[in-house]
Amino acid sequence: MSQLVRFGVALEKNVLKEFDQLIRRRHYPTRSKAIGDLIRAELVNQQWESDILVTGVIALVYDHHRRDLVNHLVDVQHQFHPRIISSQHVHLDHHHCLEIIVAKGRAREVEELANLLQSVKGVKFGYLVRATTGKQL
Ligand code: NI
Repeated sequence: MSQLVRFGVALEKNVLKEFDQLIRRRHYPTRSKAIGDLIRAELVNQQWESDILVTGVIALVYDHHRRDLVNHLVDVQHQFHPRIISSQHVHLDHHHCLEIIVAKGRAREVEELANLLQSVKGVKFGYLVRATTGKQL
């Protein structure tokens, strides 16, 4: 961990009260940890905009009875195979599957992979978590 630096922050009283309630609900041990996480989340968003090396987690929910859909999802993943680190398939119920794909690459490539998967007809839920490799933070 790099060196810690203390700095002062002035906030409106009611904003701080709401913030303290929020971080209590989220079980943060200190304001410093909560503020640090907010800042890092914004820095990660900035990294994705500058197209550097990133990590992304793509979650998809779909009905596996639609074979054309399943084949399409597999084809897209094979197109991007050097970028995919792992994938996990969970059978949610008789019809539905949850697929979790972890990808690493340039932000633009990981965004493209997520867009291609989420937009497949029949995918009921698709979400990309924009994460970091951790090197820049
Ligand atoms: Ni399944």
